Amino acid sequence: MIISLGWLDTGSAMDQDKVIQLPKPVHTGKMSLEETILRRASVRDFTSKPLTPPEISQLLWAAQGMTRKWGGRAAPSAGALYPLEIYLVTADGFFHYLPARHQLIRLSDQNLLKDLCHAALGQACTREAPAVIVMTAVHERTSGKYGQRAERYIAMEAGHAAQNILLQATALGLGGVPVGAFSDERVQKALGLPGDHRPLYLIPAGHPR
Ligand SMILES: Cc1cc2nc3c(=O)[nH]c(=O)nc-3n(C[C@H](O)[C@H](O)[C@H](O)COP(=O)(O)O)c2cc1C
Repeated sequence: MIISLGWLDTGSAMDQDKVIQLPKPVHTGKMSLEETILRRASVRDFTSKPLTPPEISQLLWAAQGMTRKWGGRAAPSAGALYPLEIYLVTADGFFHYLPARHQLIRLSDQNLLKDLCHAALGQACTREAPAVIVMTAVHERTSGKYGQRAERYIAMEAGHAAQNILLQATALGLGGVPVGAFSDERVQKALGLPGDHRPLYLIPAGHPR
């Protein structure tokens, strides 16, 4: 059963056994930025090896982790309004990432990878990856200030965050691919996303085969 997401915004009534504290992200790595950029290439074929909690922690931190005391995040955001909401789909369940606490909230125990794959026009990488990061956006956070320009800003921000994930994956010896070809409605339905969390990108990640 998919738990309604409505309560997440309130920060109250959080069922503690649904909260997963991620390991602290590390801020140094073995691969230089230049080598990481050189090595990054889309990976669509993965081994079945699951990602470890430190690997998941690092990928989510790269996407939207909080890097400044005032709330600034790993990727730039127009007006620092942060419209992006990040979800994670694995064989173990479906989770929502909370940047401020670097926590995952478990929303479902079900393996939704197959449903996600159907929504992504049958692209096998979205079912066979050990993890798929689902990037969504709440447009109203940005359009409230920037009006129609928000559409453009949010797409740019998704690109920034996606590139962070892909580079971080590469630097960890993992791989991933940005998937834009999917049915918005079917992704929303498969995951039970709230109507205002619009899916922008699916990023399957794992160990390259
Ligand atoms: C906006 C966007 C959407 C994409 N959508 C898909 C997709 O749905 N499926 C897929 O396999 N690759 C997708 N890609 C990955 C591209 O196919 C890939 O980046 C391109 O072939 C260049 O290869 P490289 O990433 O290895 O440099 C997408 C890339 C971008 C930037």
